[in-house]
Amino acid sequence: MTAEQIDAFDQMHARSIADPDRFWGEAAQGISWYKPWSKVLDDSTAPFYRWFVGSELNTCYNAVDRHVEAGCGDQAAIIYDSPLTGTVQTITYSELQASVARFAGALRLRGVAKGDRVLVYMPMIPQTVIAMLACARLGAVHSVVFGGFAPNELATRIDDAKPKVIVSASCGIEPNRIVRYKPMLDCAIEQAKHKPDSVIVYQRSQERASLVEDRDVDWEQAVASAQPAACVPVKGTDPLYILYTSGTTGEPKGVVRDNAGHAVALRWTMEHFYDVQPGEVFWAASDVGWVVGHSYIVYGPLLAGCTTVVFEGKPVGTPDAGTFWRIVEQHKVTTLFTAPTAFRAIKREDPQGQHIGKYDLSHLRALFLAGERSDPDTLQWAEQKLQVPVIDHWWQTETGWVVAGNPLGTHLFPVKYGSATRPMPGWDVQVLDSEQDVVARGKIGVLCIKLPLPPGALVTLWNADLRFQNSYLRAYPGYYESGDAGFIDEEGYVHVMTRTDDIINVAGHRLSTGAIEEVLASHCDVAECAVIGVADQIKGQVPLGLLCLKAGVNRSHEEIIKEIVQLVRENIGPVADFKRAVVVNRLPKTRSGKILRGTMQKIADGQEWKMPATIDDPGSLPEIGAALRTAGYALNTTFVTSSE
Ligand code: COA
Ligand code: AMP
Repeated sequence: MTAEQIDAFDQMHARSIADPDRFWGEAAQGISWYKPWSKVLDDSTAPFYRWFVGSELNTCYNAVDRHVEAGCGDQAAIIYDSPLTGTVQTITYSELQASVARFAGALRLRGVAKGDRVLVYMPMIPQTVIAMLACARLGAVHSVVFGGFAPNELATRIDDAKPKVIVSASCGIEPNRIVRYKPMLDCAIEQAKHKPDSVIVYQRSQERASLVEDRDVDWEQAVASAQPAACVPVKGTDPLYILYTSGTTGEPKGVVRDNAGHAVALRWTMEHFYDVQPGEVFWAASDVGWVVGHSYIVYGPLLAGCTTVVFEGKPVGTPDAGTFWRIVEQHKVTTLFTAPTAFRAIKREDPQGQHIGKYDLSHLRALFLAGERSDPDTLQWAEQKLQVPVIDHWWQTETGWVVAGNPLGTHLFPVKYGSATRPMPGWDVQVLDSEQDVVARGKIGVLCIKLPLPPGALVTLWNADLRFQNSYLRAYPGYYESGDAGFIDEEGYVHVMTRTDDIINVAGHRLSTGAIEEVLASHCDVAECAVIGVADQIKGQVPLGLLCLKAGVNRSHEEIIKEIVQLVRENIGPVADFKRAVVVNRLPKTRSGKILRGTMQKIADGQEWKMPATIDDPGSLPEIGAALRTAGYALNTTFVTSSE
């Protein structure tokens, strides 16, 4: 790439920061508006910023109806590919429009109007996308909850979002079992203080759920009795959705996304970042329950008039490590987006790439990875086997779209393994130290983003403006604190190293170790506990519990651990992937009583570790090492004598 091209990108980035009104005002031309904005960026209530104030639009109109009106009704909007059920189904934009309008009518019949919340607890089927778009059509706010969460987590979200209606399915399908959603939902509604007026249930052929009289209705019946609903104009600043993500406590944070900023930013990324054109097939192999699913299974591709793939399966085992490549060939996927963990799983099953060789991947132009750090081994393996650019990019539930990446649609920078590449337009990324000063290039600190955040980023937390400020804006005034540490090198490449809080990343999903600890501590035999994230070859990290039992407990440790594993599964859900724990005599702490989780993690992972100067009892850490070795961890750990 030439110096002029780099210059052009730098200028674009500089323009987006210096003159956001102009930059995003231009980007907004890609969206249809009922009413134009009076102001692109409103900073009058900083640190709360609002985009496209005074505007009116409808996100569903932009994602669906607009393409039908433009003559693309026969183009595939969704390809549903489920190796788990042996189904491949194509839904055109016209068909999608009809289904969404009908389902929006069904919601409206149940009293859903602009601003009402609708909770969606569903598997990876097209009806989930239809339900989300139907909410957007009415100006209702959807809150999608990932299927792997337990009733307790669902109940917390019901109480926070207070949905008028819940949309669910009879079941989800995992390779080894049918996941019965409806009994879990019933249990969650029973636990929750807030009760929805109605529940709409999509009955799948694999499992029929029983319905509660006067509250539940079968999806088919609900749409049969409904009239199609038209798109309702909403304010650009009105909320489109709430998406809960792990906080540092057991209470999840409801990230709120608006309509206008979200539509403008996502539409912009499809062309300028992912390099995708209308009509092309974009596949984000994730789940609609995560932010990647919201942004790039549903909204991004549809706003851009692409075809999106809704995949119900796993990268391996459904039926084999060639599934991704079968789908790429069969549906002529141009752009694939997934988490590194999926590639680690494929690489382990098919190190030579024999499955890859069996398929025609000539349509595939690029692979994008996000959700966790891309390890260079996996990234290089993918580059070598696929022979297309493999692009790591850094973002979060909160940011909604890429903060730092390699913008294939604008300029492809040389790849530096281990770096997410450059900050994208709109994102003024800075590295700060504990004194709140910007550090020199190459020095590690906290990755922060200078306010305002660009369109499409979170605008607040649901019903929790103060928590939003305390969580993200308080520690570094004038900045958004990302919760990630890292550095920016001399060439402006962003390197994301680790979280600065108790969040761990398991198979590309974010989990709070604090939330797991709360469950462990509730077991009657546990006096004290800690949860750390230990390295895992496939999932990046997995949680491991360290348990101190109450005096006098003399039951088998194995039995207690089994109960605790079950307790986490029941309280948080299988998604926590909590399967490992060891019993220890005591936990290492500082003199002020802080548990030394970071040092324990280093010991567990066999990294070099130092005795913290503030440790209360230096004998406690070697004890932890010994206990961890019994569970197969801390095998090659090196103790470095000087203190941290
Ligand atoms: N509903 C109910 N249970 C679910 C679920 C859902 N939607 N999704 C996952 N689970 C369950 C799994 O069955 C598993 O349960 P188990 O402990 O009984 O086996 C548990 O939650 C953990 O799931 P997962 O982390 O997905 O592990 P896995 O072993 O099933 O699959 C991978 C491993 C690597 C194949 C898988 O994590 C994967 O495909 N990851 C892709 C990355 C991704 O989608 N990231 C999202 C952000 S981009
Ligand atoms: P989530 O909100 O679940 O998408 O998780 C966001 C977190 O995942 C970030 O704060 C990072 O810790 C991590 N993450 C996401 N993408 C990357 C990446 N490309 N490189 C390093 N870490 C990443």
